[in-house]
Amino acid sequence: MSAPATDLDRPRKLLQEMGFEFAPDVLGELAERAVREKLPQLGLLELVLGTERERREERRIKTALKLSGLPVGKTLEGFDYLFQRGVEKSRIELLATCEYARRQENVLLLGPPGVGKSHLAAGLGVKAVQNGFSVTFTSADELIEQLRRDEETGRPLRRRRALSSAVLILDELGFQALDRREAHLLFKVIAHRYEKGATIITSNKGVRDWPEMLAGDEALATAILDRLLHHCHVLQIDGRSFRLRQMDKKVS
Ligand SMILES: Nc1ncnc2c1ncn2[C@@H]1O[C@H](COP(=O)(O)OP(=O)(O)OP(=O)(O)O)[C@@H](O)[C@H]1O
Ligand SMILES: [Mg+2]
Repeated sequence: MSAPATDLDRPRKLLQEMGFEFAPDVLGELAERAVREKLPQLGLLELVLGTERERREERRIKTALKLSGLPVGKTLEGFDYLFQRGVEKSRIELLATCEYARRQENVLLLGPPGVGKSHLAAGLGVKAVQNGFSVTFTSADELIEQLRRDEETGRPLRRRRALSSAVLILDELGFQALDRREAHLLFKVIAHRYEKGATIITSNKGVRDWPEMLAGDEALATAILDRLLHHCHVLQIDGRSFRLRQMDKKVS
């Protein structure tokens, strides 16, 4: 037998007054469920608290994903490891635990176009959000452009969310060669975050080509790589392009 609706009015009101945002609306359903499933004495209390916590967590994740700039739909669960045999699933699974983020370590995803670097970086970003880390996903060019403007307007660089995020994902570093000023801004980002936050970088340039990508400045490239690689998980993906596979499918 379920509780009459009026019996729920008082506890519902108390829940509302206590700042519960979701449980009051579903109190009737939860009470019915507790009776139907013959839950023990404290069962309904657990259901109410559990529902409230679960819904708040869902909302937190939804908001954090929006704020992060992560692309929609790129998850580790959606990654086809059979296609990309160069990617060791066990290494990705280890990274998915977010231990690297807890330890403020970096992840470098290197390899030619289309092998899934950005997809994996985004998938790791989603895991980090789910695990409660603040995440920013941005293309390297976009962040550097923003920092360039910040310098011009006198806005402190650290005010950018990207710099203070627990996990910063810099996508597509090296698509365009950087000039000296841009390379220096990248140095500032990496130096600022060194041992303070985890940075994930995707690049189609191997580290040997970084000096050339960084305005030919060997000293700056060394300073950046030194900090980046000190605590770093490097994944070199040498496989086929997933984009070309999809094109093959369309053509055939
Ligand atoms: N193994 C995979 N399983 C599922 N989808 C994949 C896989 N690899 C790549 N993709 C998809 O193929 C497209 C290209 O992958 P992605 O953008 O991650 O490549 P990339 O290595 O970052 O390439 P680029 O160097 O050009 O940026 C994306 O839509 C991505 O979701
Ligand atoms: Mg990419």
